[in-house]
Amino acid sequence: MCGIVGYIGNKDAKEILLTGLERLEYRGYDSAGIYVMDKEGQGHLFKEKGRIAALRDKVDVSVDSTAGIGHTRWATHGVPSVINAHPHQSSSSRFTLVHNGVIENYHEVKDAFLEDSQLKSDTDTEVIVHLVAWYVEEEELTTLDAFRKAIVGLKGSYALALIDNEEPDVIYAAKNKSPLLLGTGEGFNVICSDAMAMIKETDQFIELMDGEVAVLTRNSITLENLAGEEISRDPYTAELDATDLEKGMYPFYMLKEIDEQPAVIRRIIQKYQDENEKLHLNSEVLDVITECDRIYIVAAGTSNHAGWIGKQLIEKIAHIPTEVHVASEFGYNMPILSDNPLFVFISQSGETADSRQVLVKVKEMGYKSLTITNVAGSTLSREADHTLLLHAGPEIAVASTKAYTAQIAVLAILSEVVGKAKGFTHESDMIQDLGIAANAIQSIVDNKEHIEQLASEYLSISRNAFYIGRSMDYYVSQEAALKLKEISYVQTEGFAAGELKHGTIALIEEGTPVIAIVTVESVAGHTRGNLQETQARGAHTMVMAMEGLDRPGDQIVIPRVNPLLSALVSVIPTQLLAYYCSLHRGNDVDKPRNLAKSVTVE
Ligand code: M6R
Repeated sequence: MCGIVGYIGNKDAKEILLTGLERLEYRGYDSAGIYVMDKEGQGHLFKEKGRIAALRDKVDVSVDSTAGIGHTRWATHGVPSVINAHPHQSSSSRFTLVHNGVIENYHEVKDAFLEDSQLKSDTDTEVIVHLVAWYVEEEELTTLDAFRKAIVGLKGSYALALIDNEEPDVIYAAKNKSPLLLGTGEGFNVICSDAMAMIKETDQFIELMDGEVAVLTRNSITLENLAGEEISRDPYTAELDATDLEKGMYPFYMLKEIDEQPAVIRRIIQKYQDENEKLHLNSEVLDVITECDRIYIVAAGTSNHAGWIGKQLIEKIAHIPTEVHVASEFGYNMPILSDNPLFVFISQSGETADSRQVLVKVKEMGYKSLTITNVAGSTLSREADHTLLLHAGPEIAVASTKAYTAQIAVLAILSEVVGKAKGFTHESDMIQDLGIAANAIQSIVDNKEHIEQLASEYLSISRNAFYIGRSMDYYVSQEAALKLKEISYVQTEGFAAGELKHGTIALIEEGTPVIAIVTVESVAGHTRGNLQETQARGAHTMVMAMEGLDRPGDQIVIPRVNPLLSALVSVIPTQLLAYYCSLHRGNDVDKPRNLAKSVTVE
């Protein structure tokens, strides 16, 4: 949540910052700003409410700048507005700062140090820049010492970049919990929340760690700990293809990412095959899973929904008892744990603060952890004992699609390899089954027009809707409902089909769309019965059934796949329904209101 960038070099800083912010817009998009230093050492501040495009219109193109910092905001403290937009400045405007994270003790800092300072915004951030100024002015510290001293007194999460007008050739940076990378190149250096932002400039990045401060000039990066001791760290090469970040011919990233799913599944199969073309996991990961007596999956949102499918796969194929928990709840309300648990964190971004707080706690308790993520080098990946990568390529639309199917595919492979290692065998061949699922997804995305029509017919004016299902179909219903509500703003519930009649069926009115997912043979009849009950009360019903379980009149028939993998395929029409519903309503599909892709605050 919130993205920050910084640049110091010889090129046009404002353009590099604006392009970087466009790449980070997925982290928040309610206001944005940049502060740039021109060649005469004059600072220029530009801030605007809304998207980066609005900020671009406001930036004075004639400013010739070679250093600066920028920010795109997802509001936590204070409404989206120009005043609350970053960068924030000290009273004299000597210091300018951007921040990603939440300062928990900002009231205390204000009361202790800043009673005489005129703070302009409602943000938690503004106290930091005033505090740096206070230490410089009152204690006559250097800017570096003041910055260090200020952050020692902060509680919460932060990634920070600071400019002092009196040192126009320096940018200071620091972090705690929120991610921050330093990019390096010939005659320039950069700062960014995510390598994506600066991949056009460099692929060489240094990770800044919690409790470290960085000092960047055009030609150097110095790292220190909070005691002022120098640290050396080599850069790594970010394996990001700049073309993966383009929309190409697609109107929205979400549609591109939906279409990429067959290729992603095929890539995952390849990445998890050994030289004999057998599925395999790194031996340390395999050992840690086979040795545990219970798996605790901890995740948020869509990743949590993938976790529920993972539970089915792990229990049915690898025979390990598995629990699934919502990350924001688990850390503060832990169940009784088994003797030898393994914690599995599922996270597209690898940065979700709710999941990270659990990881920090279970590490303190001495338990083992595995992160399943799309982002190598992300916080959850670095901090867990082991990582399995999704290999889905960057997912940019806020609504997660290909990451969900990638998570399920990786969990299926994990279950298969662990099951085999534990001596459980079954008839089917996972590589083949995943390949069949990839083909099935392909055939659905190749026939989108039908789903677009259904979206118009069922969802064009409704204010609410239901997805229902049982067993695996219930878990997919929850994901389907999340997708529809987050981008189309139709209030949607994903419900266990049998549970409706215990109260919620009271919400069914004439025309309420109710969509049943039917891929599990043992409960198909029951789900259809429950759908009938809603139809009898006026619902506008739709059935999405797997071939073999379909009946005449069903609106969507999905190709037959191994029932254990049905979620991979049944979710696709629901992603498309959500996409078209949002599109037809004129929403910004990729950047729905109030949301951000990477949720780095608790
Ligand atoms: O990056 P993560 O997978 O940890 O993110 C967790 C959720 O915020 C995320 O899955 C969210 O629910 C989706 N973007 C919704 O489509």
